[in-house]
Amino acid sequence: YFSRILASTAIALSATIMSVGMADAKNFKIAVGDSGGSSQEATGKGFIAALEELSGGKHTATMFLNGQLGSEQDTVNEAAIGTLDMSLLAINNVTPFSPTVGVFSLPYVILSLEDAEKLTQGPIGAELTENTINDAGVRIIAWTYTGFRVLTNSKKPVKSVADLQGLVIRVPKNEIMIDTYKAWGISPTPMAWSETFAGLQTKVVDGQDNPYTTINAMKFYEVQKYVTNIRYIFSIEPLIISEQVFQELSAEDQAIVLEAGKAATAASAKFLREKEAEIKQILIDEGMEISDPENNEEEFIKLATEAVWPKFYDSIGGIEKLNAVLAEIGRDPV
Ligand code: MLT
Repeated sequence: YFSRILASTAIALSATIMSVGMADAKNFKIAVGDSGGSSQEATGKGFIAALEELSGGKHTATMFLNGQLGSEQDTVNEAAIGTLDMSLLAINNVTPFSPTVGVFSLPYVILSLEDAEKLTQGPIGAELTENTINDAGVRIIAWTYTGFRVLTNSKKPVKSVADLQGLVIRVPKNEIMIDTYKAWGISPTPMAWSETFAGLQTKVVDGQDNPYTTINAMKFYEVQKYVTNIRYIFSIEPLIISEQVFQELSAEDQAIVLEAGKAATAASAKFLREKEAEIKQILIDEGMEISDPENNEEEFIKLATEAVWPKFYDSIGGIEKLNAVLAEIGRDPV
């Protein structure tokens, strides 16, 4: 009799523990700027798989692709006030809210995937993560590596700065990128990411820049023909969580979210290493013509670095901050 009571008490008790345990189960909402097949989606998938595994199936997350939850810059505001849990977006769309992350968008600073991994996963990445919490109310928990932002346009092959003249190029609402095109002699058109496909399709703009994987995922080959392999920005796209939402989690769940973020970062690097060449070939098969800038891009590099770097020393935290970044990737100081 007693053992039966004990057994039923134990069942009731474990049911209580279970329901208490599951009561705070989460299904985080993740806004994603890009569509399926993008590197952002690869990061999101990596995050969700690790989150489910590390929490023993208690927590999950759902991605809302293709800017369904608003423009990338709007999602930072939403997360800051806690009405959105998470967002996957390009770092250039975080910069207006936390200027020091602009160091990752300065032209020709990051020259390889390895540079990007080193910088984001080392002390600089940790410092920028702190800064975005303080400045923008969002915490970076994972990094997506999307590759170099190449230039596309619908009108003509571009191999030199001279070829660029006369083209109307869309850029994100990002001062560094606007000034880079100005250094190349044209005045670009700032436009939200969520409006860019329509802008290209209706020919409000002739071109834009984004990595191969993004061009493919967004089907830009339907409205763009020519690709120039400029390498001015290596695109980095963080997964951010609302700091308010993060602080409401238990210490244990915070640790799980951070660990899942690390797995997501690794998934992103794997995706780029395995898929980039294949995706470039898809663009060619879809009819895009890809060319390299002449003279190893020297003119683009000289004009952009000379005009743009000094202009943004203050906003990135001083010339010494840029030098710390350059030192970490084995380059000479300015
Ligand atoms: C932009 O161009 O605004 C972004 O890089 C788009 C993206 O998130 O892929």
